[in-house]
Amino acid sequence: MSSREKLEQYTNEVEAVIGRFLPAKEGYQSTVLEAMDYSVNAGGKRLRPLFMREVYRLFAKGRGEAAVEPFMAAIEMIHTFSLVHDDLPCMDNDTLRRGKDTTWVKYGYDMAVLAGDGLAIYAFETAAKAFAVSGSPETVGRCIGLLAEKSGVSGMIGGQTADVELTGKAVNGDQLDFIYRLKTGALLEASMMIGALLGGADKEQVKAVEKMASCVGTAFQIQDDILDLVGDSQVIGKHILSDEKNEKTTYVTLYGMEAARAAVMELSREAQEILERLPGDHEFLAYLIDILITREK
Ligand code: IPE
Ligand code: IPE
Ligand code: MG
Ligand code: MG
Ligand code: MG
Repeated sequence: MSSREKLEQYTNEVEAVIGRFLPAKEGYQSTVLEAMDYSVNAGGKRLRPLFMREVYRLFAKGRGEAAVEPFMAAIEMIHTFSLVHDDLPCMDNDTLRRGKDTTWVKYGYDMAVLAGDGLAIYAFETAAKAFAVSGSPETVGRCIGLLAEKSGVSGMIGGQTADVELTGKAVNGDQLDFIYRLKTGALLEASMMIGALLGGADKEQVKAVEKMASCVGTAFQIQDDILDLVGDSQVIGKHILSDEKNEKTTYVTLYGMEAARAAVMELSREAQEILERLPGDHEFLAYLIDILITREK
């Protein structure tokens, strides 16, 4: 199977895993459950669970995948929560996401806040299901801790805080790197590090995976900024020029388009170099990193 065919098949498999862990839409709280379901099932590239499972496979050498699956669903729930809140009128004030109305447009501001909260917490309820199927509760505990650290104030939420606070203000290169490393890099780091830990990677290998994921994260966000300017709204499923509307400093506004494109290439190359030194079959992971450079969505 070619990597392109694998991407399609694996994305479908990931969708099925996520679907198995989503809560039933019932009870007096069904509105928030519907809003959660709508936000997750609106689509998305599912890159974080894809990366998680692929890194797991590098180290797990054909072992079963029952323990990684709750974490695959959990990371996508946290990522979706970050998007639901990122789109709110008080944040980026966006109305289109994954080709559909954003959650707040569809369900109202109140339900979007609650749906984001719901997804954030349900992610941990889901991840905790790994205890029942893993032979190593200690590793599962570490992964849950890591998921919290990379999602919270030391990770994604920390990055979003600086991003929001510096909106409309002059931002220097250090601040911008911090924002990208945290708001986008941290969840990719969590994805790949959890895959590595569950797969049985040693300390040095987990460190290497963290660095590789950090490079991927920053490259990914720079490409996101590029697409916000030159992307096709139909393809990316978001309105373009959101950053300009919100007076955001981005890699492109700070360094120019050419330098931004060069940075994506350079960071992807750095990630590939780290990958080459890891064990296992790298082919599909190398492809996933490669498409960051050329992605149009
Ligand atoms: C969008 O992430 C937000 C960023 C961190 C740039 P994705 O581009 O992975 O969004 P989906 O999941 O495919 O919708
Ligand atoms: C968002 O960055 C990163 C998150 C943590 C959600 P952006 O605000 O650029 O993401 P998009 O372009 O809305 O997806
Ligand atoms: Mg934002
Ligand atoms: Mg945004
Ligand atoms: Mg963006």
